Amino acid sequence: MALRPSVPLLAPSILSADFTRLGEALQFLEASGADTVHVDVMDGRFVPNITLGMPVVAALRKATKLPIDCHLMIVEPSRYALEFVEAGADWVSVHQEADPHLHRTLHAIRAKGAKAGVVLNPSTPVETLADLVDDFDFVLLMSVNPGFGGQSFIPRVLDKVRRLDALRTERQAPFLIQVDGGVGTANAARLVEAGADCLVAGNAVFKAADPSQAVKDLQAAMKQGRG
Ligand code: DX5
Ligand code: ZN
Repeated sequence: MALRPSVPLLAPSILSADFTRLGEALQFLEASGADTVHVDVMDGRFVPNITLGMPVVAALRKATKLPIDCHLMIVEPSRYALEFVEAGADWVSVHQEADPHLHRTLHAIRAKGAKAGVVLNPSTPVETLADLVDDFDFVLLMSVNPGFGGQSFIPRVLDKVRRLDALRTERQAPFLIQVDGGVGTANAARLVEAGADCLVAGNAVFKAADPSQAVKDLQAAMKQGRG
């Protein structure tokens, strides 16, 4: 991936949007200055919840120019990752815990033309990525146990962001660090300060009384974190 962005990216998660009005949610995101659309794909096996699949991603693709970021919370992600790229995903991330052949899957996603990411659950240490740092474009650190929006941020993840940032510096690997789960104005600045480049936010955007203002507030907090 190219160099890290000068301004941290905001990736609102449509999991918290009104599923009967996804087109409007996309229009809102474009107008509000969001950077990507985060799409949570859940299969009821890797996580307890079931959400959506390739046909919905293909429909979203037709309705927005924003990059689509598909977070695959599914078993055997290598079976479906390329289908999500074909459906229009620009970024695809797979869980380390779900794939014993990550190297192969990540290279296949990149070869298909998308940015490849690895996701780590809260209990998976960042050191597991030490032998893979050149093989992905971004790492998604879960700051809740995946499966549902609206959960509380696990503070320990701040330390994981710092350790991953140190690994990145030590190995001179230009991957992005994304954080997902319980992100809001209360922790956005600290996460960016610790090294995060992209924050996912579901409830903090879509359940806010004023979602446009929520995007602005989050972006302002993120800029503050960059100093
Ligand atoms: C949780 C999902 C998240 C979720 C975040 O499993 O991966 O992307 O939408 O929602 P909030 O920001 O409400 O925690
Ligand atoms: Zn997610």
